[in-house]
Amino acid sequence: MQQSTECRVIIPAAGSGSRMQSEVPKQYLLLAGKPVLQHTLDALLQHPAMRRVLLVLAPDDSHFDRFDWSTYAKSLVVARIGGDSRAASVRNGLRYLQPHTADSDWVLVHDAARPCLGQAELQRLFAELQPHPVGGILAVPVADTLKRADSAQHIEATVSRAHLWQAQTPQMFRYGLLLRALQNAADEGVTDEASAVEQLGLHPALVMGSARNIKITLPGDLPFAEWILQQKEMR
Ligand code: CTP
Ligand code: MG
Repeated sequence: MQQSTECRVIIPAAGSGSRMQSEVPKQYLLLAGKPVLQHTLDALLQHPAMRRVLLVLAPDDSHFDRFDWSTYAKSLVVARIGGDSRAASVRNGLRYLQPHTADSDWVLVHDAARPCLGQAELQRLFAELQPHPVGGILAVPVADTLKRADSAQHIEATVSRAHLWQAQTPQMFRYGLLLRALQNAADEGVTDEASAVEQLGLHPALVMGSARNIKITLPGDLPFAEWILQQKEMR
């Protein structure tokens, strides 16, 4: 497989953050004085292979322009082409890149709402996947004991956690393969890129991530993310 030095990057940022229960979509909430999205961009752009980022916004986004993004002028392309689901937003982003992208180019997709991505994990993902025929994702082995609930919210069974991993982002695939996978998949239930690729009968790699790479989803996640970023700076 050819070695690629540059990697296309898509950040889907067209969600409304309904679980966060905030007027402002979570990607624009302030975290250590900067919008969440800015932390996410900074983490990705530190990697030498991630030189340009396609940011997919909702067509009616009224928050992005309230911040100054001029320091990213050379590295950021903004497209207001978000769809009704994360899968649709990523698919629209892939189509937007089509004129400038070869099927064999790597594409890395990372949630706008994961601002605590560490360089070690990003480098590990990029390095481990270079020779991989399919691509893969950052993920962490499930740590807690798992219970399946019945309809009355009582425990029906304990589910073995052996071989179970929690998917994170970034997720990295060859451009042609990922576009085919997302064009083939129904959006329902496709909450990450890997699940669309799996539907083609392929087996993406699991690359060890970090528990620190949280997705801001619920209100309590924001102070936790702030604490994670502080710890990072102290190291
Ligand atoms: N996303 C997107 N387009 C959508 C839905 C989500 O680009 N139609 C993006 C979000 O902006 C986020 C990432 O996908 O960066 C992960 O999605 P999630 O955490 O579910 O964010 P939201 O959909 O915004 O939040 P919620 O599900 O709580 O409404
Ligand atoms: Mg969502």
